[in-house]
Amino acid sequence: MKQKIISGYNVCRNLGEILNEFAGRKIMLVCDSAFKYLNLKEVIDRLPNIIINFDGFKPNPDYYDVCKGVEIFRGCGCDSVIALGGGSAIDVAKCIKLFSVLSPQKNYLEQNFVESNVPLMAIPTTAGTGSESTKFAVVYFNEKKFSVESASILPDIVILDHSLLNTLPLYQKKCTLLDALCHGIESWWSVNSTDESIEYSRLAVTEIMRCKDGYFNGISAAAERILLAANYAGRAINITKTTAAHAMSYKLTSLCAIPHGHAVAVCIPQLWKFMYRNTGKCVDGRGADYLTGIFKDIANALGEDSVENGIEKFEKILESLLITAPSVSKNDLQVLASSVNAQRLQNNPVKLSEEDLLNLYKKILKEI
Ligand SMILES: [Fe+2]
Repeated sequence: MKQKIISGYNVCRNLGEILNEFAGRKIMLVCDSAFKYLNLKEVIDRLPNIIINFDGFKPNPDYYDVCKGVEIFRGCGCDSVIALGGGSAIDVAKCIKLFSVLSPQKNYLEQNFVESNVPLMAIPTTAGTGSESTKFAVVYFNEKKFSVESASILPDIVILDHSLLNTLPLYQKKCTLLDALCHGIESWWSVNSTDESIEYSRLAVTEIMRCKDGYFNGISAAAERILLAANYAGRAINITKTTAAHAMSYKLTSLCAIPHGHAVAVCIPQLWKFMYRNTGKCVDGRGADYLTGIFKDIANALGEDSVENGIEKFEKILESLLITAPSVSKNDLQVLASSVNAQRLQNNPVKLSEEDLLNLYKKILKEI
């Protein structure tokens, strides 16, 4: 992976020095609401580069907000982008980089993506999405999720500074950590897994299990490991993409207004149970026995000796974090089942029909 990673507590304080290696003279700083809590304004103000701030977007970024960012990037003559924030800020920055070299006359999402050489730096302020190490970005067009993919949006430089996690609210810490854990698990069982991606998954899941409690209790060394684990999980999905739990989560996030990591995590136990019982429907060319072995490896990384106990362990983690499934109406269950993107299900190791999805949602969610 062609990416430079700089890590360490308070390493952001040296942003001026780091920027010497970064080609930008007029930088667009894409940041979210976390910026005002980070105490970085002074560092940014001292930079010799001209900084154009862009924060005109919300979580799960809207396409038209991204377009405004592209307009400002062009209008101000920016030559580089720094993303400072959670996954949405990084995704917006990636899209601005990519769209800035396309025609503004047509919908960017309908154009063929070409390589963009605009330098991009990512500074994650959450430990979860791993977006800083992937070639994907999520953007919503008329409330429909689009996954933008281009090798050129992989950030050139990543700063992993765990001091930035200090101000993160506990619920956000929980949801983002669960997102990273799900990335590690889903990538591990994905039909696209490779030896390299599995090694990243193993590192991510093991480190998350080892350090999560310390992280939630504010221990700095644990936060450092979790930030790195989330990055490993990001590298894993950069190779494999995510699977059914993510596919099932997107509509759930918008319908129930819950964070992405929360929505994905509540889908995992029932999905895993279903897949374990239905390895006969395995679509991974490596076969059902291989998949069962992978399920065992994941359970081991969760600290358990059997798949059943591994699934139970995951449920207990959710319980201990007070992450519960939302309630939906009967009609919503059908809406959810038919919303799942068939393309994304192709990465899943076990075939799932719309009826299977409906049954899974019934088991996962509370019906009102
Ligand atoms: Fe995710």
